[in-house]
Amino acid sequence: MCLVAPSLLACNFLKLEEECKMVNESEADWFHLDVMDGRFVPNISFGIPIIEHIRKIAKKTCDVHLMIEEPGNLVPAFKKAGADQVTVHLEACPNLHRNIQQIKEFGMLPGVAINPHTPVSFLSDILADIHQVIIMSVNPGFGGQKFILHTLEKIKQLRKMIDEKNLDVLIEIDGGVTVENAAEIVHAGADVLVAGNTVFSAVYPVETIRQLKNITR
Ligand code: DX5
Ligand code: ZN
Repeated sequence: MCLVAPSLLACNFLKLEEECKMVNESEADWFHLDVMDGRFVPNISFGIPIIEHIRKIAKKTCDVHLMIEEPGNLVPAFKKAGADQVTVHLEACPNLHRNIQQIKEFGMLPGVAINPHTPVSFLSDILADIHQVIIMSVNPGFGGQKFILHTLEKIKQLRKMIDEKNLDVLIEIDGGVTVENAAEIVHAGADVLVAGNTVFSAVYPVETIRQLKNITR
């Protein structure tokens, strides 16, 4: 079975507590928390104080996706806010290996995210050091975009790379995941489905999470 990570970016922030409780009570595995800086991506979302509040109520892994430049400056603050996993963007990190080591030193699981134009081969020399890869299946910065089909090929390539190296790295797919395309994504080799609008715009989000969760490879 795959892991499901609802992206709180799409939740109703006026009802943040209720939305978090819904995720707690559902079959979801992680809280996916999108941080944007208005520089690496053309949008600003939420940051440390919101994550601190979510952490107080979240009973599951807090998976923090940093769409920010110079993430190293803020790694200690995200640890303090309660992040369990921190993913940084390959495109934002000229010293990626250092960033990954720092995340580990702070006791969190490190990940690397790649944008739609970045080939998976760029991950080959960092793969052994990380816990998860986020393959962006939309251009980062906004929820509710359409899944970029070419991503399926990237998932297959990365699955092959991970299996050939006999590694335990999780493949997380972020952007445009729907109940309709989720099976194809998992069959291509994904381990984790991030879902924002598909979950939080659903009439019965718990049921939608269950549908995603029940997909098997
Ligand atoms: C986009 C974010 C995603 C976003 C996904 O930059 O990284 O996590 O919330 O939203 P949906 O699932 O609505 O495409
Ligand atoms: Zn994300």
